[in-house]
Amino acid sequence: MKRIVMLASGRGSNFLAVASAITRGMIHGRCVGLIVDRRGTLAAVRAEECGIPVFLVDYPGFSGKSEYEEELTRTLGSLAPDLIVLAGYMKILGSAIIRDYAGRIINIHPSLLPSFPGLDAQGQALEYGVKISGCTVHFVDEGTDSGPVILQRAVPVLDDDDPKSLAERILHEEHIALPAAVSLFCEDRLRILGRTVIRLDSDFQEGRSGST
Ligand code: GRF
Repeated sequence: MKRIVMLASGRGSNFLAVASAITRGMIHGRCVGLIVDRRGTLAAVRAEECGIPVFLVDYPGFSGKSEYEEELTRTLGSLAPDLIVLAGYMKILGSAIIRDYAGRIINIHPSLLPSFPGLDAQGQALEYGVKISGCTVHFVDEGTDSGPVILQRAVPVLDDDDPKSLAERILHEEHIALPAAVSLFCEDRLRILGRTVIRLDSDFQEGRSGST
């Protein structure tokens, strides 16, 4: 069973999608904690309702980013995660944490990367005038939304969309994509080869060639 730690900053609907998939037995892992970076998040309320421990690393309570990151590092260390899931975590993780957990941090982003990284991805997509957008689950590297892609799901962009309607359509797909990616990770079915993430078959056995 993999130990999963999730980080969130807000509403927590992606957190809940993963937590529910765990409860339904669809993910071979358990969520050992949700870390939130501010007080009063709906994500924290949802975690408490699920019986998942919540850890507050309250960004405004620190004198700067490095003090905040030190406490975050300590909190993560105490939870010994196999996998860290950024589920609507609205900060850029420090490079020390990214290096410590290389290949073990995944993020969900509401666009088809590499298009529209960063904030307001849905607004960027509308501004650009694309006809298809979607979401991307990817491993986290030291860039912004730039790590190897695990999976993507597409949605149409409609002529009368505004950022809210497009965000809702994409969010529906996020709730499918993120639990699916977490499940693949927890089954050891993901391999990172350069920029490419290979998805192994479920009956794959390491060291077996499969040839006759
Ligand atoms: C999602 O759209 C996610 O892709 C983005 O922030 C939003 C968080 O939503 N990074 P929620 O907190 O999971 O409901």
